[in-house]
Amino acid sequence: MHILCLTVTFAAGLSSAATLIPRTVFDSTSSLTQYFSYNYPWGTDHNGGARMSPSHAVISSAGTLTLTAQKVSGQGPATHGGQQIPINYLSGAVFAKQHFTVPTGGGFIFSGSFQATTTKGTWPAFWLTAVNGWPPEIDMAEWKGSGKISFNTFNTSSVVQTKDVAYGNPGSFHDIKCQVRDRGNGKDAQVKYWMNGVEVTTHYGQDYVGKPLYLIINLQMEGSSGSPGPSSNTTYSIRNLEVTTI
Ligand SMILES: *[C@@H]1O[C@H](CO)[C@@H](O)[C@H](O)[C@H]1NC(C)=O
Ligand SMILES: *[C@@H]1O[C@H](CO)[C@@H](O)[C@H](O)[C@H]1NC(C)=O
Repeated sequence: MHILCLTVTFAAGLSSAATLIPRTVFDSTSSLTQYFSYNYPWGTDHNGGARMSPSHAVISSAGTLTLTAQKVSGQGPATHGGQQIPINYLSGAVFAKQHFTVPTGGGFIFSGSFQATTTKGTWPAFWLTAVNGWPPEIDMAEWKGSGKISFNTFNTSSVVQTKDVAYGNPGSFHDIKCQVRDRGNGKDAQVKYWMNGVEVTTHYGQDYVGKPLYLIINLQMEGSSGSPGPSSNTTYSIRNLEVTTI
C-alpha cells in the first residue's frame, strides 16, 4: 500500500502533459467523430468559394484524414462580411469538439503532418479562432495558393504578425508544430511555430489567455488564394495530428 502510493505520486509528478487529441484520431471515422465535428463551428460557408460538406472529409486510409474540394455548379452564393461570394466548390472542414483555452502559466502543443497544395485558388488551413467574438486567431499553417506557407497571429484585423516561408514539395507531407502558451504575464500568448522540425518564428497574441479557441482544419478555395481555382479535384491530407498540454 505504501509502495503503491509512492509510485502514483512519483508518476503524477513526472508527467504533467496531458493528451487532449491522440495520434490515433484519424484511424477511423468513429475516432474522427469522437473528437471532431464536420463543417465549420458556424456552418458550411466562410470567406471563400467552397461550401463544406461532410462527404468531402473522409478517413482515406487508416491514420489519414483527407479533405477533397470538388468543382460544382448550381450552388447559391455564400454571404460573408456583407458580401456575396460565388460557391464554385464543395469541400471538407472539421473542427474539434473541445475548445482550447490557454490557462495562466500553461498552454498547448498542436502538431501534425500535412500534405497541402499551393496551387492558385486552393486555400488549405490548420488554425485556431475565437469561440466568442474575434480575435484571437492563430493560423498555425495556411497555404494561399502562392507557393508559400503562412503563419499568422492577429491582435486586430490590421495588427497581425505574419511569416511567409517558401514551401517546397507540396506533394509530400510536412510536419507542422505550434506551441501556444501564456507569455508569462497571465495575459498574452506566446506562439511558436515549427516546420519539419525547424523553428520558424515566434509571435505574441494580445489578451489571448483565458479565451476559448476552436481548432479547425479546412480546405477553403478561391477567396484569398486567388481565382479561378482548379477544375479537377484538390486534396488536403493530415496524419499524426496530436494536441497535448504543456
Ligand atoms: C500583439 O500584441 C502583443 C502583446 O501586446 C505584442 O507583443 C505584439 O507585438 C503585438 N503584435 C503586433 C503585430 O503588433
Ligand atoms: C472528386 O471528389 C468527389 C468527392 O470526394 C468524388 O465523389 C469524385 O468521385 C471525385 N472525382 C474524381 C474525378 O476523382
